[in-house]
Amino acid sequence: GAAELGPFRHYMQKEIFEQPRAIGDTLEGVETITPELFGDGAYSVFKDIDSVLILACGTSYYSGCTAKYWLESIARIPTQVEVASEYRYRTSVPNPRTLIVTITQSGETADTLAALRHAQSLGHKHTLTICNVSTSAMVRECKLAYITRAGVEIGVASTKAFTTQLAGLFLLTLALAQVRGVLTEEQEADHLKAMRHLPVALQAVLALEPQIIQWSEDFARMDNALFLGRGLHYPIALEGALKLKEISYIHAEAYPAGELKHGPLALVTSAMPVVTVAPNDTLLEKLKSNMQEVRARGGVLYVLADGDTRIKSAEGMHVIRMPEHYGALSPILHVVPLQLLAYHTALAKGTDVDKPRNLAKSVTVE
Ligand code: G6P
Repeated sequence: GAAELGPFRHYMQKEIFEQPRAIGDTLEGVETITPELFGDGAYSVFKDIDSVLILACGTSYYSGCTAKYWLESIARIPTQVEVASEYRYRTSVPNPRTLIVTITQSGETADTLAALRHAQSLGHKHTLTICNVSTSAMVRECKLAYITRAGVEIGVASTKAFTTQLAGLFLLTLALAQVRGVLTEEQEADHLKAMRHLPVALQAVLALEPQIIQWSEDFARMDNALFLGRGLHYPIALEGALKLKEISYIHAEAYPAGELKHGPLALVTSAMPVVTVAPNDTLLEKLKSNMQEVRARGGVLYVLADGDTRIKSAEGMHVIRMPEHYGALSPILHVVPLQLLAYHTALAKGTDVDKPRNLAKSVTVE
């Protein structure tokens, strides 16, 4: 009811603003990195595996896509990510030394549960879930689990569940890296320290809301939008496009920035805003040249840049600077302005933000 909403107009907005608390709670009690964070017997499972296969749907799938970058670059373990409904119906080549990781807010999504059971039927014994509901079917059926502490999520469009999943997946990355001996103690401690700072860093990102509201006034008048990202931030671009589609009903697509010239550039006009997730990492220079291509075609750019980038707002180019540069954990911060953009665009359009048409919070039937 209204009392629970406090100063917020919708559950989605409230849940976006709960993210510092949700991440803090998800990391509470994590004193050091150890496989046992994922349950008894995790060490022997992590010792036995040679690869990871992530299975999930919707927003949870995009957290898996982000984790693939972490698992391969930090834990050095080969990782695949697949939409649960695709995996369950195709003929795949099982490897008993693969760790099956399901990601699900509810723990009850029919396709993700069926994908887990399909994996088990193929002989997969090493199963782990990142889940927000400790009493769910998924937690019961997986050998190992990490329970995120987002708290009850009411908005159909997932927000705090996504960022807490990412926190859980980063812990998994560090635990696997430890067992595989690929991180020094100092590197591990630095990563853990960066994680602990997330609630404070998220608070600073939430303070960008007034600038995002200005962007949303432009978006509410558009029928299409394009989101670009690179590397770790490509799944964040996908998630930003999904959020906008789900609640504002604006057609949105996401591309890895390098693919722009292989197709979507043909769609760019002044009626197609282009959002770019551009933290100041080694790929930024390349992204900048892609962005020039958009501007040369009359496209209007909305850039989420880090504080230490030199990109400036200009004609046809709107820049919001993120408070700090965040390295590997940057996706957790960059998704927040995209959640707010979708929320405020939907608000401006007057859609039913918490209950978008045709969608359900948890899809428990096929
Ligand atoms: C539905 C919801 C999405 C969610 C997806 C997966 O489509 O509308 O917000 O990401 O299901 O749900 P799960 O509970 O498995 O994470």
